[in-house]
Amino acid sequence: MTEKLADIAQAMVAPGKGILAADESSGTIKKRFDSIKAENTEPNRRDYREMLFRTADAMREHISGVILFDETIRQKAKDGTPLVDLIKATGAVPGIKVDTGAKALSGPTSGIEKVTEGLDGLRERLAEYHKLGARFAKWRAVITIADGCPTWNCVKANAHALARYAALCQEAGIVPIVEPEVLMDGEHAKHDIDRCHEVTEWTLRATFEELYDARVRLEGMVLKPNMVIAGQKSAKQASAEEVAERTVSCLKSSVPAAVPGIAFLSGGQSDERATEHLSLMNAMGDLPWKLTFSYGRALQAAALEAWSGRPENVAAGQRAFAHRARMNGLAALGTWTRSLEKAA
Ligand code: 13P
Repeated sequence: MTEKLADIAQAMVAPGKGILAADESSGTIKKRFDSIKAENTEPNRRDYREMLFRTADAMREHISGVILFDETIRQKAKDGTPLVDLIKATGAVPGIKVDTGAKALSGPTSGIEKVTEGLDGLRERLAEYHKLGARFAKWRAVITIADGCPTWNCVKANAHALARYAALCQEAGIVPIVEPEVLMDGEHAKHDIDRCHEVTEWTLRATFEELYDARVRLEGMVLKPNMVIAGQKSAKQASAEEVAERTVSCLKSSVPAAVPGIAFLSGGQSDERATEHLSLMNAMGDLPWKLTFSYGRALQAAALEAWSGRPENVAAGQRAFAHRARMNGLAALGTWTRSLEKAA
């Protein structure tokens, strides 16, 4: 089983490819649809995701896996084909979000800090998702930087839950994406890059310690971290080069080389920034793991806007998605340039 998990993990971070995070919960997709004035209905959610998964060339060439929400893994395309089959036909691996969300962490910081839930019944849910075709899963923990935060209690509770989740995934033959996200957005995000570096390193070290205690096989997992970057509300923003250098340096001191790949979240960065940062990191070379993308917003924002909920815009939405997938595919190889970005 371990060998198979390692093969899936390697496929998820194959050269020039990355992961499409399309696992927005019904609440989150509502926010995205509100921004384009589209109604958050089941057929609209299906049509939107079907549009992305049917962008055949981009999917085949640049997308290694797709993270789905519970509704989507059970959903059929308009012609009756299961959406999972559309994904598989492109060679991408279907994956599933299995956490049930970040909830207030009880204690003195409960207005700020969160702990991710979803362990109850997870073994049974994973067995079902495996039957439905999922070969990897995702669990997102969020760490908030604020005055006096994060607390050790929050870091520890989230790292422990991530490790319990990861061990259950591997038991079920599913590769865990381990996602401890130090937030760069939200009302508290006034911190500079130094503080993000310190907290990201702390969080990653705590997470790998828990993964070790839970006997998680590092060869059969993928890490999904934030980049080391200033908070959106900070007056002191770092250059793209500094973000790339700080991120690689932080990861080198906290992520074992046995981990096959690291697939970043975009976290609120603009599309182009997220691509540029990834490309600069890969261009540095001499890295012990593959570095790629597992973007939600930075892969979808342009496509969502081009589509705007209208069937006549499907081709435009697919063009926008294909472009971002190609740009990020290049970034995963370290060969993206701004002129290629504009040439499209
Ligand atoms: P963003 O790239 O929009 O941060 O989303 C990635 C993700 O899957 C967050 O859990």
